[in-house]
Amino acid sequence: MSVRETAATREALPGTAATSQGPAQGGPTAPGPSDASAGPSDAVAAVGAVRAAEEAGPAVGISEASEEAIAAEEAVVAHNYHPLPIVVASAEGAWVTDVTGRRYLDCLAAYSAVNFGHSHPVLLDAARTQLNRVTLTSRAFHNDQLGPFAHALAELCGKNMVLPMNTGAEAVESAIKVARAWGYRVKGVARDQANIIVMAGNFHGRTTTIISFSDDDDARADFGPYTPGFRTVPYGDTDALAAAIDENTVAVLVEPIQGESGVRVPPAGYLPAVRAICTAQKVLFIADEIQSGLGRTGTTFACDLVGVVPDLYLLGKALGGGIVPVSAVVGNDDILGVLQPGQHGSTFGGNPLASAVGHAVVRMLASGEYQRRARVLGGRLHEKLGALVGHGVVDVHGAGLWAGVDIDPALATGREVCERLMERGVLAKDTHGSTIRFAPPIVIDEADLDWMIGQFGEVLEELRSV
Ligand SMILES: Cc1ncc(COP(=O)(O)O)c(C=O)c1O
Repeated sequence: MSVRETAATREALPGTAATSQGPAQGGPTAPGPSDASAGPSDAVAAVGAVRAAEEAGPAVGISEASEEAIAAEEAVVAHNYHPLPIVVASAEGAWVTDVTGRRYLDCLAAYSAVNFGHSHPVLLDAARTQLNRVTLTSRAFHNDQLGPFAHALAELCGKNMVLPMNTGAEAVESAIKVARAWGYRVKGVARDQANIIVMAGNFHGRTTTIISFSDDDDARADFGPYTPGFRTVPYGDTDALAAAIDENTVAVLVEPIQGESGVRVPPAGYLPAVRAICTAQKVLFIADEIQSGLGRTGTTFACDLVGVVPDLYLLGKALGGGIVPVSAVVGNDDILGVLQPGQHGSTFGGNPLASAVGHAVVRMLASGEYQRRARVLGGRLHEKLGALVGHGVVDVHGAGLWAGVDIDPALATGREVCERLMERGVLAKDTHGSTIRFAPPIVIDEADLDWMIGQFGEVLEELRSV
């Protein structure tokens, strides 16, 4: 049984003619060549189909096939996650299909790793072509994909050097090492005395060093002893930041928007002030754009929203096109140049397959069409979610196609809301009790976005009427 049957619509957005493929149609929801034949009647028909689907009522609960698949997984996989009870079998564009054939609108996009949608044909082509050539050489040898990828990525960032890694946490760890080495060799900090300033509420990954400066008890407790050398200050507080810096401070590590914390945007003027403080104190400004970067906020980087250029960009997630893990530290050679052979590395970092896919991602971003699309659809998302404030929603925050929605904790937990959304064919993720994150793939169709917000509004109404 299909969950929702939204018909195709074509909405002319800047630089992108999105061709919606709702549950009934199948196929990718990827930007393609402009479809001049699409007219208002298509859109009207689509809206009608959406309404008809809505009137069909909520979808059924967990199927037997899903239950079996979940039980089989949970019997042998460590329980370090608590997923929603859906078992995805395939996906295209903004839609995923479960083992029973039910379709769901993906409004999490793998925490922004699927910014360009599932199975984007351009990215799949890049991967397939490279699969048939060579996939892994290790950095013991050169490969013909890494250089062109690194050039393109450096240019996108306005920098001249790239340190390729795989996961986001690895990029963060790499930047910590680079900042310490830079501190000792360039700034002149005494050996082993370097400190790095981090923000309360941060999320930078799950390695031992990274959780050492997390204030999330689940992530941290029972995993000590912790790595020293970090100082935590309140996010958004420039006075506290300035006061925490001393002659041994080598870097300030900050998420321009705190994603896992609930899509928290710092006060206006904060990031420019961080930039100014770092420059004045000869401290590196490291922007963790692993979740916020690469189009999500309606700009290439969240830092662009306030015209700030960090010393190091940390990138990951969407850099791998939702296909392979690709991350990178991007900066200039006066910083990344501190690394010498043997001092840092990774067997898979910069491999030909990752480089080919990453390069395709950078090419897609170079035109600006995805950034514009995220900006336009994001405006719509925030306007419509904002209208729910006072109707079960307490606050909405975020930027571009990325929203954190604080629901009234008296109504339900975030998890309960996400379960009700799932029943209706919408996949979203809660965080910190009563915040719901919406971050659909940027290729999502406008009508599908509206439908998703409609479902959310109905869930809130349902809860308010209990
Ligand atoms: C801002 C930020 N940094 C780092 C990471 C860690 O990335 P990964 O899970 O690929 O290690 C995440 C993951 O959510 C993140 O949101």
